[in-house]
Amino acid sequence: MVGQNRSLGWSMRILYSGVMVSVFLLSAGVSADPQWGQALYDETEFEREINGEWRDDVTCSTCHDPEFYTRAERRADRYRSLHTWVDSCNTTMSVQWFPDEVDAVTRYLNAEYYQFPAPAPQE
Ligand code: HEC
Repeated sequence: MVGQNRSLGWSMRILYSGVMVSVFLLSAGVSADPQWGQALYDETEFEREINGEWRDDVTCSTCHDPEFYTRAERRADRYRSLHTWVDSCNTTMSVQWFPDEVDAVTRYLNAEYYQFPAPAPQE
């Protein structure tokens, strides 16, 4: 009997933490989209040759200072083109972000620097 109660307790705990993880992922993916994008932007490391040296700790900010996104002659002139640029660096650098991750990073850069009118978040 004691043993049974115990394992029931553990199942409940596992179920509970599963629910909490889903709640966290949902809020990260939908309402906190720019924060998720910022985490991806800051923390995703990939491999690339930089100044003749092969490195495995390259991030977006290795090449881009914040000023890069606010310079007068910046390339992106609306939300869709910003998205295309993020996607093109993602592809060129083989970062391997999924489409929803490219969306989240675009949202982050837009909220932080570009401030173009943005489409409503996809469910
Ligand atoms: C090895 C260097 C390098 C890395 C790393 C890199 N990029 Fe780029 N990125 C470029 C170059 C080069 C351009 C084109 C600049 C130009 O033509 O003016 C560019 C352009 C851009 C633009 C367009 C900016 C504008 O002018 O409005 C965005 C947005 C961008 N990159 C996002 C990213 C993101 C997100 C990452 C991380 C996955 C990333 N880049 C990683 C080199 C890099």
